Amino acid sequence: MRDGRPSETAIIIAGGIALVAHAETDSQLVGARELELTERLLASSLRGRLVRTSLRTRPGRLLARAIESISVRGTPLHWVLRKRCIEDDVRAAITRGTRQVVILGGGLDTLSVRLAETDPSLSVIEIDHPATHARKAPCVRTLAGELPNLHLLPGNLEHASPGEVLSACRAFDPTARTAFVAEGLLMYLSPQRVGALLAWVGSCAPGSTLAMTSLGVTTDGRVNFDRPSRIADAFLRLRGESFTWGEERASLAVRVAPLGLELVRTLAHDELATSYLQGRTLRRPQLARGEYVALLRVIERTDER
Ligand SMILES: C[S@@+](CC[C@H](N)C(=O)[O-])C[C@H]1O[C@@H](n2cnc3c(N)ncnc32)[C@H](O)[C@@H]1O
Repeated sequence: MRDGRPSETAIIIAGGIALVAHAETDSQLVGARELELTERLLASSLRGRLVRTSLRTRPGRLLARAIESISVRGTPLHWVLRKRCIEDDVRAAITRGTRQVVILGGGLDTLSVRLAETDPSLSVIEIDHPATHARKAPCVRTLAGELPNLHLLPGNLEHASPGEVLSACRAFDPTARTAFVAEGLLMYLSPQRVGALLAWVGSCAPGSTLAMTSLGVTTDGRVNFDRPSRIADAFLRLRGESFTWGEERASLAVRVAPLGLELVRTLAHDELATSYLQGRTLRRPQLARGEYVALLRVIERTDER
């Protein structure tokens, strides 16, 4: 990311969520509170306000679909489904007794706010790049009021591990089982940083989980969706948000095992469609391919480790 500039891709993803919510009203894939918060977070910047206002109109949605058609097709629905999947994983962890949630690189995602406001006994912490944090934090305070169980922290995860950032947060309990989320984040970090981040999560309380997303890697070593778009790639380069890390789905389990993590499950486009689209009729069911959601769990430490 460019220093001092909030994430542009965070605005695009929030726009994708709003697009699907308005275009597929009958699908109920985006909840009413999620849409309301997403739109209000979008309104925290001039560009986001333009996106929010235009997506509420049919011509605006047609324009968004035209832009999508020259970019990676099917990404708005993919973002909605990956969010459904990650939220299900986090809520399942909470049902099993996890009381601490840490979201890394939250962007304009609304999960942290919705969790904190519906369950005051839950401790919810979100870390984001300082520039994105500076845009989101005041807006969250305005729209959700003071939530004593929600903590938004600035931290550049290319320069510090989550543990270093969290050491400044008194609400974080390093001994507590935690549900971590790294959605749409790791592809922007260097391979060394991702390795260190996963190793740090692997050192956390056993039973903790990490819901993350990863793009695959092409045979020539490029990290991208299955059908990349030159226009999208050029835009990401211009914004300093090119993809720098990815892991093939088939090798993730082996890669994370030495870090104290076991792979619980992965869902790519076909499993996401089976889990979340069956029985729904969508105007535009096209789903981008190439990024998967993975759920990892911190394993019990033994003396050998
Ligand atoms: C594509 S957005 C995804 C946002 C959100 N997780 C979602 O999926 O809707 C990428 C997010 O990663 C954050 N990010 C990128 N590089 C980062 C870094 N070095 N340190 C901390 N956060 C970073 C951005 O600020 C942004 O919020």
